[in-house]
Amino acid sequence: MEKWISDNLKTKFIGRKIFYFKEIDSTNTFAKTLAEKDKEEGTVVIAEKQNAGRGRFDRVWFSPAGGIYLSIILKPEISLIRSFKITLLAGVSTSSAIEKLVGLKTFLKWPNDVLFNSRKISGILTEVYNKIFIIVGIGINTNISLNKFPEDLRGSITTVKKELGREISNYKLIRILLEEFEKNYLILKEGKDEEILKEWKEKSQTLGMRVKVISNRGEIKGRAVDLDENGFLLVELQNGRIEKIMEGDVFHLPTFVKDENY
Ligand code: BTN
Repeated sequence: MEKWISDNLKTKFIGRKIFYFKEIDSTNTFAKTLAEKDKEEGTVVIAEKQNAGRGRFDRVWFSPAGGIYLSIILKPEISLIRSFKITLLAGVSTSSAIEKLVGLKTFLKWPNDVLFNSRKISGILTEVYNKIFIIVGIGINTNISLNKFPEDLRGSITTVKKELGREISNYKLIRILLEEFEKNYLILKEGKDEEILKEWKEKSQTLGMRVKVISNRGEIKGRAVDLDENGFLLVELQNGRIEKIMEGDVFHLPTFVKDENY
C-alpha cells in the first residue's frame, strides 16, 4: 500500500521511510517508540484505521476506516519556542493539500484545526519530547460518512466525502500533504518563519473573531487580533489589554450575540 504513496512522492526526506498499518492503536504512539529508537527524521507512520486515536487535551480522535491517520517524526534542532510554528505549518500544509487535490477551501482555527464551512475536517496533534524529537500527528476526515461519527460530534465536524459527495484518493492526498509539509518545514529550517506565519494568517478563520479561550490559566473572552512572532495568539480583552495565548482550547463565538464580557 505504501508503494502507492512513495512511488510518486517528490520529497527529499519526509515519507522516504513509511510504516503502513491496516489498523493500529495510534500512529502518534507508534511513531514515538520509533523515534526513541533513533529513526531518521521524516519517517512517517500511516494507518487506515486507529482504535485508540488521540486528540488534543486527551480527547479521543475517532478514526474509522476511510480517513487519513498519519504521524511524521521530526528532529528539528530548533528552539522549543520556534518549534511551536511546526504546529502552525502542519495546519497550513494540510489545508493547502486539501485545496490542491479537491479544491475545497479550508480555513484554520488557532492553533491548527482545519475547518470547512466552520466545521472541523482535520485535526493535528503535535507532541514534543524532551526537545529531542517531535511527532506531528494529522487526522483528516476524508472518505467517511458523517453517520460513522458519534451523534454529538456530527454538528461540529465534516468530511471530504460529505462535502464533495464522492470519495477521493487518500494516497494522492497523503502524497501532496507530505510534499507541502516538507516544503514548509524547509522554509522554517531556513529561518523564514515569517513566511509560515503569513500563510497561516491568510488561511486563518480565528483572526478578527470573538473568541473564548479555555486553558489551565482559566477562561477568557475577547477578540483575536493577531499572532505574535512565535505564532502565539493575541487576544484583546474588553478593557483593551492584550493577552498572549500560548496554549488552550479556542472557541469561535458568534459576532452577533450581545455579551457583557465583550
Ligand atoms: C485534535 O484536533 O484533537 C487532534 C487530532 C489528531 C489526530 C491524529 S490522527 C493521526 C495521529 N494519531 C493520533 O493518535 N492522533 C493523531
